[in-house]
Amino acid sequence: DWTAANIADALIDQVSDQIGDGLAICGLSGGVDSAVAAALVQRAIGDRLTCVFVDHGLLRAGEREQVQHDFVGATGAKLVTVDAADTFLRELSGVSDPERKRKIIGREFIRSFEGAVSEVLGDHAEGGQQVDYLVQGTLYPDVVESGGGSGTANIKSHHNVGGLPEDLEFSLVEPLRLLFKDEVRAVGRELGLPEEIVARQPFPGPGLAIRIVGEVTAERLAMLRKADLIAREELSAAGLDSQIWQCPVVLLADVRSVGVQGDGRTYGHPIVLRPVSSEDAMTADWTRVPYEVLEIISTRITNEVPDVNRVVLDLTSKPPGTIEWE
Ligand code: XMP
Repeated sequence: DWTAANIADALIDQVSDQIGDGLAICGLSGGVDSAVAAALVQRAIGDRLTCVFVDHGLLRAGEREQVQHDFVGATGAKLVTVDAADTFLRELSGVSDPERKRKIIGREFIRSFEGAVSEVLGDHAEGGQQVDYLVQGTLYPDVVESGGGSGTANIKSHHNVGGLPEDLEFSLVEPLRLLFKDEVRAVGRELGLPEEIVARQPFPGPGLAIRIVGEVTAERLAMLRKADLIAREELSAAGLDSQIWQCPVVLLADVRSVGVQGDGRTYGHPIVLRPVSSEDAMTADWTRVPYEVLEIISTRITNEVPDVNRVVLDLTSKPPGTIEWE
């Protein structure tokens, strides 16, 4: 019987068998897949799982709290948070090229993750036990894609920041490797994960860094985070979440245009809205968001985000555009 409850039970049993009385770690990204994988393993082995969350400072408003409070509250999982925002900002300073950003973020992510793992290993070493298992939220389409070679790979490098540290030796635990995304969501609901996590739209591992066209700075991140939150709030309030696959909000940090606000001339940055509809992110169409909703978003962003004086809408399908601007 293919109910979410049966699948969850079967997967929990399978994980118990695989890990036995061993120890495991899992990197949480804030996304659905790693959260559901971790929740399953938590059910199977309890506190012998340690979750590691690297806060690279490139997350959207509220995402860190979602992991620290909502995920932990729902699962009771043991969580280690690494505060790496300063390091990431330092390493990214002066960098505008999208591929260099991705490389730096990938590298720093692995460093931070390894640091946290060494600490966990250190903790357990006193008790004389080794961490042998690494939990990953690999889905069936990921398995097929990495084995198959679809021919469209490598347009953008490093699509998944949760990459495996190369010199650490773990056995992989991949409880979701036979599931599709909607099945993963159903299992997540079955395990009691909150809707904000289970229904979350895709968000890239390198986060807001690849939504700032130009150099990433703390100030620019703060601007973009505000604009992104406004867009998310208004699209949700309008009931559009299920029609929209994701809506990147992009800051054109190196562009300024003249505007007028109050009785003064402004010279500020544009924010781009990029709402897309898609089945699998391989192709996408721009979403026809009602004008009234766009109007509210535009008004709020220009009123509430300092130094932004224009909001523009991206009307490009994929292809020829990609979903992200970088
Ligand atoms: P593009 O921009 O290539 O995006 O049309 C397709 C999907 O992939 C996401 N994306 C990324 N995800 N690391 C990720 O984890 C990345 O570097 C990355 N680049 C794009 C994008 O959000 C969309 O869902």
